[in-house]
Amino acid sequence: MSNTQISSNIWFEASAPSNIALIKYMGKTDTVNNRPTNSSLSWTLNNLRTFVRIKQNADLKEDQWNPFVRNDLRPIDLSEKGKKKFLDFFAKLKAEFKLTGFFEIESANNFPSDCGLASSASSFAALTLVAHQFAGARYLPKELAKLSQKGSGSSCRSFFTPWALWHEAGAEEMALPLKDLKHMVILCDETKKAVSSSQAHVQVLTSDLFKGRPERAADRLQKLVTALRKPEGQWKNIFEICWNEFWDMHTLFHTSVPAFMYLNGDGFSALSQILEMWHQDGDGPIVTMDAGSNIHLLFRNNQPDAYAKYQEHFNNQFNLWTDSGYQIRKD
Ligand code: DP6
Repeated sequence: MSNTQISSNIWFEASAPSNIALIKYMGKTDTVNNRPTNSSLSWTLNNLRTFVRIKQNADLKEDQWNPFVRNDLRPIDLSEKGKKKFLDFFAKLKAEFKLTGFFEIESANNFPSDCGLASSASSFAALTLVAHQFAGARYLPKELAKLSQKGSGSSCRSFFTPWALWHEAGAEEMALPLKDLKHMVILCDETKKAVSSSQAHVQVLTSDLFKGRPERAADRLQKLVTALRKPEGQWKNIFEICWNEFWDMHTLFHTSVPAFMYLNGDGFSALSQILEMWHQDGDGPIVTMDAGSNIHLLFRNNQPDAYAKYQEHFNNQFNLWTDSGYQIRKD
């Protein structure tokens, strides 16, 4: 009897974390398989997770996606386009794992879905994991990552923690001494973004400034890894490399044809306040932004006072995502 027959009418569930890149994946050489123009390095966000469950249903004529409703989770609201991308990838997973019949697929996050934190990385990694589990297959994490990359590039880094390097050979864990960074997000715009990251990957290639981008990213990656390998006395250097890297990516957005922006006035204001605080304190968090308006901060575990200070300071102006969850702005 095949696994699929044994598994009928039982829900299979898996979850996967999101990740935040410090050296960015932006620009592809192959949009079908999501091959990147440069290597990237990310920190895994184990507190920001997507949960996916699937069940075979003999009454269905096609695979069907619905929000996963459970008390501890927040249902995802997928656009038609988002649903299609997810289901198209599920069809690829079914072919890979030789799954037949049609499925009910449900997904949800453990964080508010409408605050701009959602990433395709956790969703696609969780979908890959649950299909793998349903099939009773025994792929290595590296093989699962390669597969997941075809659904959404950044998801391949979500199979490794706490650091993931995605390079020519695929994604893998990178052993680095800093293993306990504290994450915070300043939520500068919680509405849906007008340009998807998949679209951004295409448009950045039209920027005049894309020339030299793969070389700049490779150079920063090498410098960042060197600093992260021996982080003593390197924190400011690490901050500067990551700061320059996200500005490099956002400048590509601002100069592509047509140009587009995620960074808004609130984000700009928050960034200049962060710089001011860094200058005053001579220390602070790593700062980065994805293809979105939110500002991600990473603190060392020996900076609890700085963490509290930033939380206090920015929660007066913004909603935040912190170690203890979603924090509504204090008026
Ligand atoms: C800016 O992985 O969302 O977050 O492969 O088209 O699904 P697709 O794109 P996606 O791109 C993420 C881009 C980024 C930078 C990064 O995560 O490295």
